[in-house]
Amino acid sequence: MSAEIIDGRAFSEDVKKRVASQVASLKEHHGLQPGLAVVLVGEDPASQVYVRNKNRSTVEAGMRSEEIRLSENTSEEEVLSVVERLNNDPGIHGILVQLPLPPQVNEMAVLDAIDPAKDVDGFHVINTGRQAVGLPAMVPCTPLGCIMMLKDRLGDLSGLNAVVIGRSNIVGKPMASLLLAESCTVTIAHSRTKDLPAVCRNADILVAAVGRPQMVKGDWVKPGAAIIDVGINRVPKEDGKTRLVGDVDFDEAKEIAGYITPVPGGVGPMTIACLLANTITAACRSNGIDEASLPDVG
Ligand code: GUN
Repeated sequence: MSAEIIDGRAFSEDVKKRVASQVASLKEHHGLQPGLAVVLVGEDPASQVYVRNKNRSTVEAGMRSEEIRLSENTSEEEVLSVVERLNNDPGIHGILVQLPLPPQVNEMAVLDAIDPAKDVDGFHVINTGRQAVGLPAMVPCTPLGCIMMLKDRLGDLSGLNAVVIGRSNIVGKPMASLLLAESCTVTIAHSRTKDLPAVCRNADILVAAVGRPQMVKGDWVKPGAAIIDVGINRVPKEDGKTRLVGDVDFDEAKEIAGYITPVPGGVGPMTIACLLANTITAACRSNGIDEASLPDVG
């Protein structure tokens, strides 16, 4: 039996439509245009593509978009002063500093300089802590998108065994924390985990976020499990070109799993949609607007 493919592109279009109607409502009823600023330091090609896509989606949703491009050799002080200007700009409700940053700029120092209320990436320690203890917080976009797709297909996640492979601050740890908040029994697996295939075979929900191309094989998968593949790995093809693959061996895993996200077209598109949704949340909170009063459909 072949797994049901979770189409992240279609799902993200629905989220973006909802966001666009919420932007229209905020403009009409509150005279408020949500604004998102993205800061890119350096010339990393993958980051340039992400930032261009974020900018386009922000504008398409009817939001204000500010893109700040700084050269590779920008100092930490300069980046911090840009963040401070954006913190103080009332027309900007969300700030995202694209990672990775060049080595002379301390990532933690920059992330922690962002006003937690504008931290649409959810990477500030205040937001990490608030989320962990169940207080309202900005939640990292990639894990948020994963949870939305899982709940859409599985409904209530409570009591399910969830295994997250990878313990990064951006995906693995917040993903585990969100699954715990959904009352899953959560295991975080990583490079030191003993007998990883056996750990994975216990997973009703398997989230792969390690950055190792096609590492998760078909015989690691519990029959009927939901697999969320966060990996985006560029690998060579026989004709000398390259193609994108995830951390899961899709062709093998789809024969065993119940649900699976493809790469590309799974988690990736949802991340940008969730960034826009987080910007709406930030704009509402900073203006004392009840987000629940906004339209819920596109
Ligand atoms: N680089 C790769 N993914 C992300 C992300 O989700 N947020 C930021 N700020 N940088 C990234």
